[in-house]
Amino acid sequence: MNLQADIGADVRPRGVHGQPEKNPRPLLSVRDMTRTWDGVHGCRDVSFDLHAGEVLCVVGESGSGKSTLLSAVSCQAPLDSGSVWYDTRDQGLIDLSSLSQARLRLLSRTDWGFVRQHARDGLRMQVSAGANIAERLMAVGDRHYGDLRRVAGNWLAKMEIDVGRLDDAPASFSGGMQQRLQIARNLVTHPRLVFMDEPTASLDVSVQARLLDLLRQLVNDLGLAAIVVTHDLAVARLLAHRTLVMRGGAVVESGLTDQILDDPQHPYTQLLVSSILQS
Ligand SMILES: Nc1ncnc2c1ncn2[C@@H]1O[C@H](COP(=O)(O)OP(=O)(O)OP(=O)(O)O)[C@@H](O)[C@H]1O
Ligand SMILES: [Mg+2]
Repeated sequence: MNLQADIGADVRPRGVHGQPEKNPRPLLSVRDMTRTWDGVHGCRDVSFDLHAGEVLCVVGESGSGKSTLLSAVSCQAPLDSGSVWYDTRDQGLIDLSSLSQARLRLLSRTDWGFVRQHARDGLRMQVSAGANIAERLMAVGDRHYGDLRRVAGNWLAKMEIDVGRLDDAPASFSGGMQQRLQIARNLVTHPRLVFMDEPTASLDVSVQARLLDLLRQLVNDLGLAAIVVTHDLAVARLLAHRTLVMRGGAVVESGLTDQILDDPQHPYTQLLVSSILQS
C-alpha cells in the first residue's frame, strides 16, 4: 500500500492565486459528441476540453441532456457520433472508443470516480462503511488489513463521520453521511477525474451547504478535475472554474463561471440567472 496515498496530499503544481497550472494538453477532450436515446432526445454536438485540476459544471433545466452528456463522456453509454479523448497515464491522449472493455473498466476504477445523485446507487449497502472505502483500494491491489482500516478511518474522519462508525452499515447513516461516504469511496484511490451527477440535490438545504464546502475543499486539495451536473447555479458558482449551459440537448453557452453568471450572453442563460436572482 502506498502510505502516501493518505488523504490530503496535493500532488498538483499550483500557479498564482492557487489555480492549477494548465498543462497545454487537456485531460479530457470532447469533440462533436452526440448521444441520443431515440434519434432525437439526448445531447448533440457537444465539444469541450477539460484540463487537469479543472472543475466544469453542466447546468440547464430538467431534460436538457445533462445526465446524458455525463454518461456519454464517461463511456457509460455509447456515442451516436463524435469522440471523447482522454490523457491516459501510459499511452497519452487516446480516443476512448479504441479502448477494450477491460481497459475501460480499469480506467473507471483507478483514474475516474463517479458520484451518483442517490448515494445508494454508488454504495454497497450490504457491507460496512469501512468496507465500502477499502473495497476500492483492494481493487487497485492494496491488501494489508491494518492499512486498509487505517486509511478508511482517516477518510471517515476527513468526511466528518465519526471513526467509530467504521463497521456500521451505510443503511444506518443519514442521507448526508451516505453521500459523504460515497465521496470518500470514490476519492480514496486518488482519481484524476470525477464525474458527479447532482451530488447535493437529494439532501436538505442545510446539509447541502456543508457538503458543497467539503467538496470544494477536496477538489482543491487533491487537484481533482471534475464534471459536475447540477440544475443549481449556486453549485456552479461555488465549485466550477467553467460552466456549460444546456438547453434541449445542445450547449447554448459556455465559458468562465463568473462571466456566465455575471454577464450571461444567451437569452436562456439570462433567464436562468434572473430566475435565481428573483427567488
Ligand atoms: N434511459 C433513457 N431512455 C430514453 N430516453 C432517455 C433516457 N434518459 C434520458 N432520456 C431522454 O433524454 C433527454 C435528456 O435527459 P437527461 O436525463 O439527460 O436530462 P437531464 O438534463 O439530466 O434532466 P434532469 O435535470 O431531470 O436530471 C430527455 O428527453 C429524456 O427523456
Ligand atoms: Mg439528470
